Amino acid sequence: MTLENYAVIGHPISQSKSPLIHNRHFETVGRKAIYTSYDVLPGHLGAVLEAFQTLGLRGFNVTVPHKVDIIPFLDVVDEEALEIGAVNTVVNREGKWHGYNTDGKGYLNGLKAMTGSCLEQMRVLVIGAGGAARAVTTVLAKHGVKQLAITNRTPARAVDLKANLGRYINIDVLDQSSARRALSSFDLVINTTSLGMNGEDALPMEIENLKTNVYLSDLIYNPLETRWLQIGKSEAKAVQNGLAMFIEQAALAYEIWTEKRADRAFMARMIREEME
Ligand code: ATR
Repeated sequence: MTLENYAVIGHPISQSKSPLIHNRHFETVGRKAIYTSYDVLPGHLGAVLEAFQTLGLRGFNVTVPHKVDIIPFLDVVDEEALEIGAVNTVVNREGKWHGYNTDGKGYLNGLKAMTGSCLEQMRVLVIGAGGAARAVTTVLAKHGVKQLAITNRTPARAVDLKANLGRYINIDVLDQSSARRALSSFDLVINTTSLGMNGEDALPMEIENLKTNVYLSDLIYNPLETRWLQIGKSEAKAVQNGLAMFIEQAALAYEIWTEKRADRAFMARMIREEME
């Protein structure tokens, strides 16, 4: 059996945990495959895809800043990836590049593990309206929740999300002070902003007037516990960091590439051991 090649492209890329999770997982499931990271500057995507085709890559992941710009270079793009407007997983099928987005579904799967199956009954507040928020709000809008609200420092970006997802749900765009005042009405509050990656960052939103039994979700996994989750966990029913989403998006990418089921339990155990 020949060695299969996979990769991740991004800039910067050295911080990515994807090579670690995929290479260790390939080893565990006995797949003869290797996953490499490439630092790719904007403007080089065409050349990189040509090189990947020549080298016979089976698939690759795409991370910041290429998730949107990769789309025109692909032969086929999955419908949900188009709705999100970003691709993070590409597979080579008979010489054609097929693009998917496993961030959205990965987030939803991770979330269901925390909340159980009662998402449809929940009032949800999303903080932030960037790329990550786009993946999260798209899957929540399509899945169906009782209420979906977005608050963002730059309201125009939240208004764009509302317009894009209007066919699934009517999104409430709240300014930051209205969101704070309404906080006690939400069952699930999700931080999709980058606030919390650095210790000195402001909180994405003050933790006050939380509903009893609220769930808090933060997409950040480095650090494992942002100050926001740390403060919120004493009040919340449960909190979840971004590791669940990271593991799920990797598992779903593996499944797209190989059409085999990923060993999620191994992925979760291994990455937690590495990060803790
Ligand atoms: P990503 O793809 O990780 O979501 P992004 O598209 O740059 O990255 O979005 C970052 C999000 O964090 C945005 O919602 C951004 O708010 P703006 O749309 O107003 O820029 C939010 N964010 C980043 N730094 C912030 C800060 N200091 N205060 C409030 N929001 C911030």
